[in-house]
Amino acid sequence: MIHEAELSIVSEHIERKLGLFFPKNRFADLKRALSLAIPETGFGNDHSLFFNALYTNRLTPQQLDTLALYLTIGETYFFREKICLDVFTKIIIPEIIKNRDELNREIRIWSAGCCTGEEAYTIAMSLNEAMQDIDKWKITIIGTDVNRNFIQKAKNGRYTQWSFRDTPDNLKKKYFTQIGKEFEVIPKIRKMVSFSYLNLADNKYPLVETNTFAMDVIFCRNVLMYFSTEQATKVVDRFKACLTHEGWFITSPVEVSNVYFSTLNQVIINEALVYRKSKWNHQSEPKPERLSFPVDISEIPKISVNSSHLHEVEKLKIEPAIPYDRKKHEAENKDQKLDLKHIYKLIDRTRYEDAMMHLQKLAKLHPTEPSIKFLLAKVFANTGHHTEARILCDELISTNKMNAEYYYLLATILFDQNQKDEAGKVINQVLYIDHTHLLAHFLKGNIARMEGKKQVANKHYKNLLNLIQNMNDSEVIADSGGLTVGRLKEMIIDHI
Ligand SMILES: C[S@@+](CC[C@H](N)C(=O)[O-])C[C@H]1O[C@@H](n2cnc3c(N)ncnc32)[C@H](O)[C@@H]1O
Repeated sequence: MIHEAELSIVSEHIERKLGLFFPKNRFADLKRALSLAIPETGFGNDHSLFFNALYTNRLTPQQLDTLALYLTIGETYFFREKICLDVFTKIIIPEIIKNRDELNREIRIWSAGCCTGEEAYTIAMSLNEAMQDIDKWKITIIGTDVNRNFIQKAKNGRYTQWSFRDTPDNLKKKYFTQIGKEFEVIPKIRKMVSFSYLNLADNKYPLVETNTFAMDVIFCRNVLMYFSTEQATKVVDRFKACLTHEGWFITSPVEVSNVYFSTLNQVIINEALVYRKSKWNHQSEPKPERLSFPVDISEIPKISVNSSHLHEVEKLKIEPAIPYDRKKHEAENKDQKLDLKHIYKLIDRTRYEDAMMHLQKLAKLHPTEPSIKFLLAKVFANTGHHTEARILCDELISTNKMNAEYYYLLATILFDQNQKDEAGKVINQVLYIDHTHLLAHFLKGNIARMEGKKQVANKHYKNLLNLIQNMNDSEVIADSGGLTVGRLKEMIIDHI
């Protein structure tokens, strides 16, 4: 039994040693991870001995590694967040190339918190696509992570279908060899990347021995959001020291925080925000050349919100960061409230295209507001824009892993896309968070029924009947688009 008071102390020590921040609302995750990790560190079930060793810095590096295996989150996939990748290949890389002379044809890139390697290999594939004379360059791509199991998997370079949820088919065919149910990265791309262990909370970068110096670009996406502000700020300061004078820093749109990145310069390229060590005087920069990039533009999610499309380089609008303007912000907030009411009305009248347009505008004004993102994801899902909806769900889940509705929406999208196995796994997550989620039981029953597993299906339908037996038939089920309990009962009885 681990008490809450103990968890507060443990979380402080974990933050110091691994950077990872467990606020009170994530204590349940912390508790679960600790009860799995402690027996594997050689302390059996003696939690107090373990805590003592943690507090007095007597855990061995191996024991800390074991802890990291259970505390880190390994969600990643190839070609994640294409908007950033597009800026990388179409703006940043051409700019680096332009400033290098014949004798210095080297580019150095770091994927920090690379997880199982998808991000680092994506960088290699994107460079291979974008640079026609890549063989004349010395390219260094390093991937580092604190979880040694992830690093081993990255080195193995073999992936299942789940890692390809956003990969254009032509690139998957070109860069992977199918081996049974898995896909292996081809040798040319594997040779471009090396992986190693590095704990971002340690002071081991920039260092020659970790090869983390003179970086042209550092990617650190979906990592700092698990760190405390204090640790994240320290990490970003160290990253800054690892960059060349002109170096770039790319993070994820969900972790944009001026506090962490205040020592770097913001560069906004349409909807993408990246950072640079030196100021970028874009007026004196020649316009970037169009590079050959064979990803079909129609395959790129249309989350970017208006007609000025990021992927058309000619239309690039590069702006300095806009200073915070309270009056403007308040006026926008007022507009947002008005608009949301209007949007709900549009949705009620199934005028999804109009709702989508308004929501996209709002999402642009408030890129981190989850309620707008969630509504937009639902509208995308309802109108068959599955890729866009999935990306938004993924972003929402990465900011709040305990919201059952986000997982439920993702499960319905996967179900619509005929990925029933994956949908089933995600539904388990919904029920893990909220075992009374009525629609999740219904979907689980439906999946089993469609797979011909009548007994399993009936078990879920009966669970559901138990849950709704005392509810009023006229009651509308939350988030169901108007489905009443009475109608749900009829449907279940039809299926049993
Ligand atoms: C959600 S994944 C992000 C993977 C990838 N960057 C992406 O955006 O798809 C977060 C990764 O950060 C790693 N991580 C967490 N704390 C870390 C630390 N202190 N040092 C290095 N990596 C860390 C985790 O092990 C995990 O692989």
